[in-house]
Amino acid sequence: MSGPYSTKVMEHFANPRNVGEIENPDGVGNVGNPVCGDIMRMTIRVEDGVITDAKFKTFGCGAAIATSSMATELVKGKSIEEALKVTNKAVAESLGGLPPIKMHCSMLAEEALKSAIDDHLRRTTGEGLPGFKPGDYMAHEHEADEIAARLKGK
Ligand code: FES
Repeated sequence: MSGPYSTKVMEHFANPRNVGEIENPDGVGNVGNPVCGDIMRMTIRVEDGVITDAKFKTFGCGAAIATSSMATELVKGKSIEEALKVTNKAVAESLGGLPPIKMHCSMLAEEALKSAIDDHLRRTTGEGLPGFKPGDYMAHEHEADEIAARLKGK
């Protein structure tokens, strides 16, 4: 019998990579998922514009753990510009897909990463990520609205 999760999701959930916190990080992102109330903190190390390390801590579900694990793996070694292209959809694809109802969980990882990059840019250039408002989670996630409405109707 196969469940709703791919083998890769289950593997990253069972053995998440990069759990923890970087000491004296170059960027910190703290985000919450308004759909479920789960929270996440991501810390990054940036050297010469390249993300050399990324770690996360979450009080979140299995899909949030698996997507953060994959997201931190994917951004390590990437420039900030390249890391910004690591969307929640790209992360979900790398994991072999997620059930539609759990796609909002993958937003937590994307949002935490963007928030950490935003924080890094603020520290180094005085200006954050263009168009990114910390805590503005719902702004670019209409899927979450849909899911919230569905959950409410339960
Ligand atoms: Fe909250 Fe998945 S249910 S992040």
